[in-house]
Amino acid sequence: MKFQITSLFAAALMAGSAAAHSWLECVDTDVPNHDAAQANPNIDPINNCKGYPRNKIYQDNWINESSWYVWDLNGPENTDSRACRPLQTNLYPSKVPMTVAQPGAAIRMRFWGNGHSRWDIGSPNHRDPGLVRVYWAGKKEVELTYKSDLTQANWFPRAQGNFSADTVNLITDGHMNEKANYYTLQLPTNMENGRHMMVWTWAWNLGMGVNPAGFNPATDYNNEWADSYSTCFDIEITGSTYTGATFDNSNQRVAAPSTACTTGTGLKGGMAQYPCTGAECPPCWYKTATGANCFEYDASGKCPFGGAYDCKLNKQLRRAMKHERAPFA
Ligand SMILES: *[C@@H]1O[C@H](CO)[C@@H](O)[C@H](O)[C@H]1NC(C)=O
Ligand SMILES: *[C@@H]1O[C@H](CO)[C@@H](O)[C@H](O)[C@H]1NC(C)=O
Repeated sequence: MKFQITSLFAAALMAGSAAAHSWLECVDTDVPNHDAAQANPNIDPINNCKGYPRNKIYQDNWINESSWYVWDLNGPENTDSRACRPLQTNLYPSKVPMTVAQPGAAIRMRFWGNGHSRWDIGSPNHRDPGLVRVYWAGKKEVELTYKSDLTQANWFPRAQGNFSADTVNLITDGHMNEKANYYTLQLPTNMENGRHMMVWTWAWNLGMGVNPAGFNPATDYNNEWADSYSTCFDIEITGSTYTGATFDNSNQRVAAPSTACTTGTGLKGGMAQYPCTGAECPPCWYKTATGANCFEYDASGKCPFGGAYDCKLNKQLRRAMKHERAPFA
């Protein structure tokens, strides 16, 4: 009987974890009562969307967007390591137009909390809600195509915030009513007129990356967090007199696997007597305080525990939930 209860509980947890996702609902949101709603979440925020992400064909249908609009960067559908869901091309149906802005504007982006707005209440409980951030090639008409383009080189300068920092969240008897989640993107003043392609991400998994000494979370790109979900969008800049790139990282846009997979050092099976380097290590890498432990796939052809970096698939797999084996968590 005890076993039955435990496995039912585990199934419920797994259903919850499978639903963990988010996407950008609106790029440019006018919220006239933002401060009042945040101070008193009984007030519903008024969200007037002035500019949308790409090709939002399921607008106002949360269920359809949750299945066919959200993009899981590390999920089974992303077979060729794309930065954007293939339907998110530069198309804007008539009722869901592209954002038009002037350089220097502050753009309030709205995304879905989906149970993750509070680390101490959310599902799964006590899991850090991670970061939202924005990528941009630094000049107009340049597409970020692959997941490997979503690196520090193409990071929109300083566009990184806590997933839960700007929310309107009504809590009643320990339950959340996540009314809205925002991140404000501050556009630089030196942006050229034209269409600038960008990618919003939610980094919800810890990855293989390491932050350098002196890392400042307020200003520096956080390498420890791996991007999990993305939504692609464009901003049409008008009214600018600036010409040329704001920054240009086009020479850094290489489709390389995680450096851990090629040059990192690990321990086979987590055993100190079996050190290995790069490609000679088994494919499932688990970061540790001093390096990594590397394991072979299990009999089902998958990494044996949650939280692996799978070097063959070039994917950061999600962390283990409490009921799963998590040897190094
Ligand atoms: C939602 O998806 C279903 C199933 O594909 C489809 O029949 C329906 O038309 C979609 N709704 C909208 C608003 O696109
Ligand atoms: C986000 O904010 C929450 C609440 O302050 C905090 O517990 C969490 O560590 C933060 N996450 C990151 C990645 O900064």
